[in-house]
Amino acid sequence: MTGESTGDASSEAITSAPRPWWFRSNYKPVTEEIDSHDLPFEGNIPEDLNGLLLRNGPNPDASPTNHWFAGQGMLHGIRLQEGQVQWYRNRRVNASVAGANGFTEANIHILSHANRIVALGDNSVPVMVSAELEQQGTAGDVPMAAHPKICPLTGEMHTFSTSHTPPYLSYHQFSSEGELTSTFEIDLPAPSMMHDFAITLDHAVFLDLPIVYDPSIDVTTSFPYQWDGDHLPRLGVLPRKAPPGQQPTWFEVEPGYVFHTINACEIGSRIVLDTCRYPELWLQNANTFESPAMVRRYDIHIDDNFVRENTTFDIRCEYPRIDERKVGLPNHFAYVATMAEEHFSTVGFGHRVVKLDLVSNSSVHHHFGPNRYVGEPLFVPRAPDSGEDDGYVLVLVYSRETQASSLVILSAQDLAAEPLATIAMTQRVPFGFHGCWLSEADLAQLR
Ligand SMILES: [Fe+2]
Repeated sequence: MTGESTGDASSEAITSAPRPWWFRSNYKPVTEEIDSHDLPFEGNIPEDLNGLLLRNGPNPDASPTNHWFAGQGMLHGIRLQEGQVQWYRNRRVNASVAGANGFTEANIHILSHANRIVALGDNSVPVMVSAELEQQGTAGDVPMAAHPKICPLTGEMHTFSTSHTPPYLSYHQFSSEGELTSTFEIDLPAPSMMHDFAITLDHAVFLDLPIVYDPSIDVTTSFPYQWDGDHLPRLGVLPRKAPPGQQPTWFEVEPGYVFHTINACEIGSRIVLDTCRYPELWLQNANTFESPAMVRRYDIHIDDNFVRENTTFDIRCEYPRIDERKVGLPNHFAYVATMAEEHFSTVGFGHRVVKLDLVSNSSVHHHFGPNRYVGEPLFVPRAPDSGEDDGYVLVLVYSRETQASSLVILSAQDLAAEPLATIAMTQRVPFGFHGCWLSEADLAQLR
């Protein structure tokens, strides 16, 4: 992640004291919860793109926060139907919810499982949300990380939680109906930071990497995690159907940090794991990003007990997404947002959405120009049975010139082409984290 200036001088000038970068430019929170209808757009919104786009991200109120990751969540919803933008609305996630390490915010992700929409933070109990973005209480009492994996074949949800006290890692499995079916307590030498993991058809893959909880860090000024060069970087592989008490098999890898996996799959007795990986991170403190993430492939030779790893795309990128129907299965394509080209001191979004061909190691870029910045690109299949890249890529784009946001719809099979449609958002959508798409069928099945 990097730090091209995404700021506008006018908005920063009204602040007398310097505020952290996550309160400036398009990181700056919005204050209003609004409802708007029939949003204007250019181009043609595909008639078969019917559903609801949801996005979550931190949106702190006036109080200062210690880190970009902190602060109350804000949900943004955009309803597309029959070639029109039926509505946009945004709603705060008001409740701080129980987490593995005290109360926390559900401010990172929003997704659906077992016909329920849930907002998630890191190690928070899920907050249930209606399709109109109204909160409906919490779902169960199991804190979980923000990146569950839903098996497209079984409908199970696999996830984990981490804790500052032993057990530092717990792996949870939920049935397709949303019932907790198994929890594995996993032994770790220290409370390392885990934001994401991966599943395959038969295994879960954990990343025990050298950023570790440090209780000596002043949490009023920073996030209590830091690079620890003494922490052995490892990948852990555990069968999904392991008996209770079984521990993962661990494989040593080169130092580095991964916030986000792209996907993993089994190829014979190997597991191939693709990630966006930083060679080093948070050496000074958790607000400084020393190096950019690039696409890293880990080829885990389970029987021979080693990992072959290499950088497969030297593109500075983050926020990887795939066709969700390919989670845990061999996938041909992934979509990433580029990060800015210079200055890695802060998180800086870039100007391109990139489609990665993971088979040929080639890529297609959609460049939005030097004054527009992209967030997470979300792939939406054109139909339930359409091919892997037969669909649309939806991305929120911020313009430094107009200080406004738009939702851009690209053709996944012709990514570099002019957008199919560009929707003018009623109010700015701050840079945030992750989201999901619910089709008309998904919406009809909600509880
Ligand atoms: Fe994330």
